[in-house]
Amino acid sequence: MSLALLQQDDDKIIDGKAIAQRVLEEVKVDVITLQQQGIEPCLAVVLVGDDPASHVYVRNKVEKARFVGIRSLEFRFDEQLSEEDLLQKIDELNADPDVHGILVQLPLPKQINETKVLERINPKKDVDGFHSENVGGLSQGRDVLTPCTPTGCIRLLKEALGDELTGLHAVVIGRSNIVGKPMAALLLKESCTVTVVHSKTKNIQQICQQADIVVAAVGRPKMVTASYLQADAVVIDVGINRIVEDGKARLVGDVDFDDALPMVSAITPVPGGVGPMTIAYLMKNTLQAARLQHPDL
Ligand code: GUN
Repeated sequence: MSLALLQQDDDKIIDGKAIAQRVLEEVKVDVITLQQQGIEPCLAVVLVGDDPASHVYVRNKVEKARFVGIRSLEFRFDEQLSEEDLLQKIDELNADPDVHGILVQLPLPKQINETKVLERINPKKDVDGFHSENVGGLSQGRDVLTPCTPTGCIRLLKEALGDELTGLHAVVIGRSNIVGKPMAALLLKESCTVTVVHSKTKNIQQICQQADIVVAAVGRPKMVTASYLQADAVVIDVGINRIVEDGKARLVGDVDFDDALPMVSAITPVPGGVGPMTIAYLMKNTLQAARLQHPDL
């Protein structure tokens, strides 16, 4: 009989909220250590336009920074801001020795070239890990700043499976620059065998059935059902999809949680799984950025 069938379902749920809280407590301690060394960690958040979701994300980021003792600076610009003016702001923040992390909230208005903006950020202040120097560094397995969501997913996997992920077969569903691709690179760095599947892949279901770890980051509500999973798989659900069910709006992941639960050995819920980890790792990245800028420490 598989382990999954012997486990209580409640014990299988990876509590991202509680783990994120522990990460934030770790950050609090590290902030104090840095302050004792004369460094006041500081994160600058740049928001352009009035996308309501972006406003909520930025508010949460600033709140969490305050909670852990990281100084935060907020720069809000209206939708019409020119690319040149945004680049100038980034140059200013790059040049400011008191600013350790720079985050430009995405998406940006259409008159602004996103790549150009992300490439302008000093890679040592790039707390999103989106600069090509950091993307390249990660693909070579170097210790660079890495994207917050997939880095948080690695922590969740280690909490569920123990520190050793070596040799496990991980299937990543989705190939976005923000999650899928860096997730694959981080899993490879952990010596997993990694398969990336995406919208053009044939036989996604059969490939997932061979996975010890499934990371779903595809943006398709409840796509992954029990029939995609091997008994005892560990499932990380990065999806956040708003759907209407029985006349009510609700948030669901890319995994059909209720269907998958009996099959798996561990699974993240939505909400309360990956979501809280993203901000927690943004705080961790801000500290890493501060240390990168003070190699003498
Ligand atoms: N918008 C949605 N996700 C992200 C993210 O991880 N970083 C930034 N900067 N913007 C986002």
